[in-house]
Amino acid sequence: MAIRKIARMGHPVLRRPADPVHDPLAPEVQRLIDDMIETMIDANGAGLAAPQVYESLQLVIFQAPDDRAEDADGDEAFDHTAPLTVLINPVIEVLGPDMQTGWEGCLSVPGLRGAVSRHNHIRYSGLDRAGKPLSRVARGFHARVVQHECDHLEGILYPQRMQDLSLLLFETEIAHFIAAQRDESDA
Ligand code: NI
Repeated sequence: MAIRKIARMGHPVLRRPADPVHDPLAPEVQRLIDDMIETMIDANGAGLAAPQVYESLQLVIFQAPDDRAEDADGDEAFDHTAPLTVLINPVIEVLGPDMQTGWEGCLSVPGLRGAVSRHNHIRYSGLDRAGKPLSRVARGFHARVVQHECDHLEGILYPQRMQDLSLLLFETEIAHFIAAQRDESDA
């Protein structure tokens, strides 16, 4: 396993559609998956798409740990978490009209955070790293991270999804921003 270099916004590999993975069991694909997991954990990311490590392939990894789960719609019975997941050749189906705005960051856009509106209720399908079909329903942060990672496979970065670029901030300023907003709403 090896930590790979992460492409940053502006590099052409992040701008083009990725190619399907024909053989998930191919040794170079398995090695890529191992390296992506090591790279994501090292960078403390919630997800990583293959184009971010300069491989233009339809392959993403992500996790939705408990501390990142949003109480999206008061449906406490729904499990908002996801284990570390490898998803190959993914397809997303939107299951409801609800959209939710939340802060996103991206390892290819270091140091920034932006408010992005995403579908709150989706189903995603694809193959796991053994080449077996995988299909799950997701909401909240879990749904958000999957939509963010799959956007990478279309050559889309989260700032392109933003409706209000005044909500693109340096992550070190977010606490100031939220405090200022609170003061405004108190006034
Ligand atoms: Ni990203």
